Amino acid sequence: MDERATSGPEMNHSVGGVDLKQRPARGPRMDPTNLVPYLPRAKWSPGPGDQGWHAMSCQVLKESQKHTRRKSLLKVGVMDFITSTAILPLLCGCVGIFSLFKLLQRLRMKAYLRNAVVVITGATSGLGRECAKVFYAAGARLVLCGRNREALDELTRELAASQAAKVQTHSPYTVTFDLTDPGTIVAATAEILQCFGHVDVLINNAGVSYRGAIVDTTMDVDKRVMETNYFGPIALTKALLPSMIQRRQGHVVAISSIQGKISLPFRSAYAASKHATQAFFDCLRAEVEQCGIEVTVISPSYIHTSLSLNAVTADGSRYGVMDEKTAQGRSPVEVAQDVLAAVGKRKKDVILADLLPSLAVYLRTLAPGLFFSLMASRARKERKSKTC
Ligand SMILES: NC(=O)c1ccc[n+]([C@@H]2O[C@H](COP(=O)([O-])OP(=O)(O)OC[C@H]3O[C@@H](n4cnc5c(N)ncnc54)[C@H](OP(=O)(O)O)[C@@H]3O)[C@@H](O)[C@H]2O)c1
Repeated sequence: MDERATSGPEMNHSVGGVDLKQRPARGPRMDPTNLVPYLPRAKWSPGPGDQGWHAMSCQVLKESQKHTRRKSLLKVGVMDFITSTAILPLLCGCVGIFSLFKLLQRLRMKAYLRNAVVVITGATSGLGRECAKVFYAAGARLVLCGRNREALDELTRELAASQAAKVQTHSPYTVTFDLTDPGTIVAATAEILQCFGHVDVLINNAGVSYRGAIVDTTMDVDKRVMETNYFGPIALTKALLPSMIQRRQGHVVAISSIQGKISLPFRSAYAASKHATQAFFDCLRAEVEQCGIEVTVISPSYIHTSLSLNAVTADGSRYGVMDEKTAQGRSPVEVAQDVLAAVGKRKKDVILADLLPSLAVYLRTLAPGLFFSLMASRARKERKSKTC
């Protein structure tokens, strides 16, 4: 039974001919077991022990229950109406608009990449190699760059043999040069521009990692890492930029790292080079926006590639170890798909990382003290594990 029907001063309806609004002059609260003061005195006034009083109370309660039931039925009816005739079509409409938006975005992305001239550095292995495959399958005209001619030729043969593409594909060109040698970059730029006459998208992917303590690391190693990850890519970008500005069209992509946003101990040269990369391309984005040129910085977390194997150590030798974190990293195939999507959607800054590394980026800004002590503890642990 609905409580409101039997108790409380809220029961202010006229029920069964009894006007419940007419409260007794001095009665404090309505007592449902004593409705006598509410009854019209002229018509009926019960005497002590009158049986009619009980019948009248039951009648009032029944009427009140009926009224409540009618009200709740009305409520259910209204809810039914909303869910069946309003919410469902509204939901379908939202899903429809979202799907249409996604479809248009996909079509726009495909059109942007089809026949686009895409230059990829570091195409001989890891992420660069996988990027070559996804951009090739999207119908891009590729210029594959690297130091190893044989590896580039092998990739070209692999692409030609692949059947994955649903669009018309184009035979790639290959250009070999070393990013640490400024002389070869100038010559390589001319060669790249000769391939298709212009460049639509430049993907600065090539890079080298580093493992070592700052105190043990020679300046030559710091310079080598900076030349490969920072000076080389910015030299190539600067060399290709005038032709992009002239055409008022172009897209420069930098494959940075989550370490371009936060610095991990024993990665100083690598983190520094990626921080510099982030800063340079952020400035470039602002400077060339009015020329119609896009800039995308992509910051992945660990990817399962040979990066740690190829890393340089404090004395310049090859690290040669597949780190546990790198081995557990994302597949380069998946990351290459994300790079394709970020370029196709012309995103400006993309972090490709799980929750924890992404949170660490915010922690560095919002609670630097906590971030620094976490990094110090990480350094202590890493040093201990090396000495044990
Ligand atoms: N793997 C990760 O966990 C991870 C995470 C975040 C960001 N990244 C970034 O992703 C990019 C690709 O690295 P990856 O993981 O694919 O590593 P990778 O397999 O070692 O590939 C590195 C590529 O860079 C090229 N390269 C290195 N030094 C060069 C130089 N001096 N001149 C020209 N090319 C050079 C290499 O060419 P050679 O074959 O000739 O050596 C290779 O093609 C790098 O920028 C890296 O910093 C990687």
